[in-house]
Amino acid sequence: MSALRKASLVDGEFSFTQDDFRIIADTLYAASGIALPPSKATLVYSRLGKRLRALGLSCFRDYCAVLDGPDGEQERSALLSALTTNVTRFFREPHHFDALRDQFRRHLGPLAASGGRVRLWSAGCSLGHEPYSIAMTVLSELPNAADLDVRILATDIDPQVIETAKQGRYSEDDLSPVPAEMAARGISRARGQMALTDDVRRLVRFGVLNLHETWPMKGPFDVIFCRNVAIYFDDQTQKRLWSRFGQALTPRGQLYIGHSERAEAPELQPDGLTIYRRRSA
Ligand SMILES: C[S@@+](CC[C@H](N)C(=O)[O-])C[C@H]1O[C@@H](n2cnc3c(N)ncnc32)[C@H](O)[C@@H]1O
Repeated sequence: MSALRKASLVDGEFSFTQDDFRIIADTLYAASGIALPPSKATLVYSRLGKRLRALGLSCFRDYCAVLDGPDGEQERSALLSALTTNVTRFFREPHHFDALRDQFRRHLGPLAASGGRVRLWSAGCSLGHEPYSIAMTVLSELPNAADLDVRILATDIDPQVIETAKQGRYSEDDLSPVPAEMAARGISRARGQMALTDDVRRLVRFGVLNLHETWPMKGPFDVIFCRNVAIYFDDQTQKRLWSRFGQALTPRGQLYIGHSERAEAPELQPDGLTIYRRRSA
């Protein structure tokens, strides 16, 4: 082994070589499609350092052995939770919620009110801020949505964020971007705790799902939010995902993506700022 490959990539309490980084990056890619460039070595070191301490290990080489050992499956899940980026906010990229509201006013609201089926999907929903923002937007246009055939599916690969999201409890600071007219109906305050109301929570179904595996739900979807998720995947993985989303949309369905992403797929055509719709045949 060359001296360069044996040298630690990061100065600190644990030795962390190029080979260790490669094993960890390959493990994450196989589990999630997330591509880790070498520039992320310091981030990997600091996020997984906590795991090494918890396991009583003294170097990343031993950690890689755990990933490959009898407790490997459990540790790969912990690695996934440690290395996924879960940053999110209520009403992030607000123009998407204006567009969604418009969709409900013109098309999806009347469809649901006349007994039609409306399905929305927050794919890569993290801690729940996105699907609950969708739910509050839907309720602002269609107050009885939960009694109609309207459902919001919210999925993420990380079981830890899904468990937190299901609780529907957030800090005052977290909830501050919620528009006042939606907060009145969507947020309750009891004994100093802030939580989303049952009206909001009843609309959302949470589940763990790796977007690169088979999707068990039937669809099709009228609206898919997949924002700030594909940005972590390589080009080929992104293209495959955009195509699958295109195929999962209703003929008038829309896909909303993150501000730094571009959805290039034969099934999709632009329909506004970071909004796409299914290309008509
Ligand atoms: C930065 S958050 C985005 C949250 C939200 N969509 C937003 O824009 O605020 C990215 C989320 O994608 C999830 N994720 C990453 N890879 C995934 C995969 N292969 N399948 C499903 N979710 C994935 C992560 O666990 C993380 O919670």
